[in-house]
This record gives sequence, structure tokens and C-alpha cells, in this order.
Amino acid sequence: MKRFLDLADFTREEILDLLALAQSLQDVPQPRALAGRNLGLLFFNPSLRTLASFQAGMARLGGSSFVITPGQGTWQLETRLNAVMNGGAAEHIREAIPVLASYCDALGVRAFAEGRNLDLDLGESLFRTIDALCDKPLVNLESAVNHPCQALADWRTLDETGVPNRGKFVLSWVYHPRPLPLAVPAATLHMAAMRGMEVVVLRPPGFALPPAIMEKARRAAAAAGGTVTETDDRTAALAGAHVLYAKEWGTTTYYGDVEADSRLRAELGHWCVRERWFDGAAPDAKLMHCLPVRRNVAVADEVLDGPRAVVKREAFNRLVVQMAVLHRMLA
Ligand code: CP
Repeated sequence: MKRFLDLADFTREEILDLLALAQSLQDVPQPRALAGRNLGLLFFNPSLRTLASFQAGMARLGGSSFVITPGQGTWQLETRLNAVMNGGAAEHIREAIPVLASYCDALGVRAFAEGRNLDLDLGESLFRTIDALCDKPLVNLESAVNHPCQALADWRTLDETGVPNRGKFVLSWVYHPRPLPLAVPAATLHMAAMRGMEVVVLRPPGFALPPAIMEKARRAAAAAGGTVTETDDRTAALAGAHVLYAKEWGTTTYYGDVEADSRLRAELGHWCVRERWFDGAAPDAKLMHCLPVRRNVAVADEVLDGPRAVVKREAFNRLVVQMAVLHRMLA
């Protein structure tokens, strides 16, 4: 495997193979499998889970890693093509990516959406540039509209918690004081569709996922025998749900307009997941969230601290599935 950028680049069978490899690495550790191998990690944006789990995973397989956070002890990096570099950035990714790639056996990069132009973000223009500049295996640690490592970990969490392949999966918008990127909702939607689930996207007006993301997921669902629908009716969405996957994202109607987004979400503070959401409709539903989560803003304490929350298991599974990805790339 040379690239791990999008679950959609793989067949369902290839994903199931990766999940089986993750299980076997957990059952029978291979502490020397990646001895002498080195992973470079380039983080343009903050992280807790991705940073720690990739370093820990590489170490558990006998390899090593280095981390670069541009502007924090290392040069700020310019990402715009043809930029006149008379600002803060001392170095361009056109040099930095090939140089970093020359030091390691695989490179992981996190580069969030700019959040200004929806078409540019949907086109993954920055990550495509990074892809073209990297002559080593490349892992997407979260790009403008994708987070395949999170999606793979969430697939494993669904399997582990006994959620049926054909179960009902509700991806629900939840409140956050600021607009957040589309990467996790897009990747999560695609994962659940590819798993063959009955997927419902629950979101208030103004926050529909872009047609390109919905259509891509509908194609994956059709191939796997599942469905993808959307609604703003919480009661209907949650009826019979096996999973509520809570996620925050910004307005798509006024994408990039922070003031319009702020006006739209001003009345949406009640989109904080509470136990009463599940009453009657989905008493046994699991609560998933990729973390970090703002307690009592996006999800209430009573839910996060209760038995339906599997958020810490999702985070642990990041380590397990990423070891499988690294093993497939480098062993
Ligand atoms: N879920 C996730 O990617 O977490 P971090 O942003 O902490 O890496």
C-alpha cells in the first residue's frame, strides 16, 4: 500500500482485510515488524489522538517517528502555489515535503480545510499537491474533507460493539460555538455507507452536507446494499437507531462566511445530545464521537459518562487500525 488517503480508494473487501490485520496484530503483537523503519508526521493543525496514536503504533511495531509542527520550533511553511513569500513562512511545501520524505519511509500529514471556498476544499487542492510532492507512502491524518484513519477506527468500533452491518446509523450535527470542517462528517458518512448501513444525516437547515459528499456516499451505499437519507426531524431520524454519531460542522449554505454561520447557529444550542433524545426511540443506541468533544455543548455529561458512549473505545481503535495501515505500508 502506497497511499491511505480515503476509504473510497479501497474495496469493501480490502477494508475488511485491514480490519482483520488490525485484530491479528492486537492478538499476536509483532514488536519487530517495522524495525529500522521511520515515520514522518507533519501536523499543520493541532491533535491529541492522531499524534499520540501514530507515534505509539510505530513504537509498538519496532519503528520510530519524528514530528514536525510548522511554526512551532520549525519553519512556517507556505502552502499556496506561486506565492510571493514575503510573509511569515520561510519555506515552501514544494521543498519541505520532498525533504521530509527523504528522511523517512512513510509520511503522515494533517492539513485541515481552509474553510473559505467550498469547491477548493471539496477538491482537496492542498492534499493533492502534497500527494504529488511525496515519493514515499503517504497517510492522510485529516485533510479538508477526509479523515480515513478515524473512519477505519469507527468501523472497527461498530463491529466490536455488535452494531449490525445493516443497522441504522444516524450522523447528527451537534452544536459548537464555531464552524468546524467537514472532514469527519464526510469520512464517517462514507464509512457507514460502505459498511452497508441505513444511514440518516440529521442536521438543521443551513447545515446539509454538500451534494458531492452525499452523492459519493449514496454510491457507496448502493454498492454495499445500504441507504443514505437526510432530514432535520430528530424524532424520525432516531427511531430505531443503533448508533448516534455526533459531530459538529460549519454551515454549507454560507460556507466560509463566519458571521452568517454564527447567526445561523445562534438558536441551535439545543443540538446538544442528551439522554432524552434516546427515550423510547432508541433506548440501546450507542453514542459515538471522534473527539475532542465539548462537554455540555455538543454532548451532555449524562451521555458521555453513561453506558451508551463508546468514544474512548473509538480513540483506542485509532491505535489498533493505524498499526495495520503502517504494517501494510512498511512491513
Ligand atoms: N479524532 C481525532 O482525529 O483527534 P485529534 O484531533 O486529537 O487527533
